[in-house]
Amino acid sequence: MNYILEKISPKLHEGDLLFLYGDETAERNLPLSRKEMDIIRERRTEKKDFIVRFDRLPYHLYFLSFDSEKAAPECQEMLRRRATDLLAMFEADKVGDLAVSAEGTLPEEVMAIVEGLTLADYSFDRYYGKERYHLKTLAIDQLYLKAEELDAAQRLWNRIFWCREWVNLPVQDLNASAFAEELSAIAADLEGVKCTVMDKKQIESLRMGGLLAVNRGSVDEPRFVVLEYNGGSKTASPICLVGKGIMYDTGGLNIKPDDYMQEMKSDMAGAATMASVVFAAADNHLPVNVVALLPMTDNRPGFNAYAADDILTMYDGTTVEVVNTDAEGRLILADAIAYAARNYNPQVIIDAATLTGAAVRAISTFGIAAMQQHADNPMTLLKLVGNQVYERLVEFPMWSEYDDLIKSDYADLRNCGSTPQAGTITAGKFLAHFADKTPYIHLDIAGVAYFTKAQHYYRAGASGYGIRLLYAFLQMQDMVEQENKSAVRKRRTTSKK
Ligand code: BES
Ligand code: ZN
Ligand code: ZN
Repeated sequence: MNYILEKISPKLHEGDLLFLYGDETAERNLPLSRKEMDIIRERRTEKKDFIVRFDRLPYHLYFLSFDSEKAAPECQEMLRRRATDLLAMFEADKVGDLAVSAEGTLPEEVMAIVEGLTLADYSFDRYYGKERYHLKTLAIDQLYLKAEELDAAQRLWNRIFWCREWVNLPVQDLNASAFAEELSAIAADLEGVKCTVMDKKQIESLRMGGLLAVNRGSVDEPRFVVLEYNGGSKTASPICLVGKGIMYDTGGLNIKPDDYMQEMKSDMAGAATMASVVFAAADNHLPVNVVALLPMTDNRPGFNAYAADDILTMYDGTTVEVVNTDAEGRLILADAIAYAARNYNPQVIIDAATLTGAAVRAISTFGIAAMQQHADNPMTLLKLVGNQVYERLVEFPMWSEYDDLIKSDYADLRNCGSTPQAGTITAGKFLAHFADKTPYIHLDIAGVAYFTKAQHYYRAGASGYGIRLLYAFLQMQDMVEQENKSAVRKRRTTSKK
């Protein structure tokens, strides 16, 4: 999609036009007759959110009425969600180029509708024989968006598309080595991003027992990819983003039954998300230091596959009893989390992983199941930005009682809980062990990374959910650092008194 910022006069515009109407301030420049407006006012007394389509042959006017009195995040989300209905109308009307008139609305509201249209317009077309409808050009009133803002947002959206494309690709076309190569090629073209790809030999010399065990049943080699972007001050410790990169999850020897295996190409969504966040941060020169650590392999029951009862020695020396080979994600993540904690002195480690079916059962497809250890403040901030961008998270407890559920009689830990209850929490507890004292946040994105059915501005398939969240979190780091500095200054002056 192309974006143009230009002056748009709704009354004079010759072409398809979307008119946003939040309240009466938009009435100064309405491209409607008084009678038409009366009908709309009448409708707004019942319900404020609706779309009316006017034939202005040869063009169309789409009048989008919304409730600007709702809290900003809800109002913006509603606008994003309207995009799907609008795109269906545009497709029926064969709209190629669309102008957006924003008279009387806020820049954030305009951005929300543009974001919704952009995110809803993506589809996975690579293997699809027929031509699919896409909007070609969006012309937006230049009074409401700044060119730099729109450019930055566009770069972020592009990263979301790349993430979706990787997650949508079947494993036949994207195995661990192919994904690593792709990431390294992108990093090579991107100023300030260093990419290190570790192959099987290097992973062996690091003694990453979790990643190596999961890889044993595969014909494809594993990879461990580290992407480093240093946009912040030289002395600031980085934020480490760990992503689950199971290129395909058959379950291994505990093979997934019935149709549970379908869509498991998406089990590397965590890795795709974290890589995309680092690339977006670099694209837009965010003043932060951030490292993505991405362990990658598929999980298969090939001839030397790891088995239940195996006892693994992990990167940090912890021993783990394998109880179920389908709880593989935590094994590869554990090595990467411990590697991050030991080698980067991170201010916080955040992981994203399609980790448990239990997370989907607990909160369905409407958000992220999150947990934290020693990371109260970053978690509060993450929840806050999550509500703002509407990629929301709900915090699960990390009570010490759960520790007993992952104790083993033969090793330090077992790789799944001893009872079927609280499967999302026992997985988070397992991972938190490997972060040790480092502040740690776990994001279980199993419910949101891949949608079986379309959901609002997400079509069926990969969503890229979490990228806007983590990007917004990184954007806030500048502020967090300033606040930390002023807190230190205050402490110094009060201690002098
Ligand atoms: N990749 C799956 C989790 C998953 C399920 C993601 C559904 C997306 C949608 C994970 O590796 C898995 O198989 N987890 C098991 C853990 C169990 C064996 C303790 C699960 O959730 O059933
Ligand atoms: Zn699994
Ligand atoms: Zn998995």
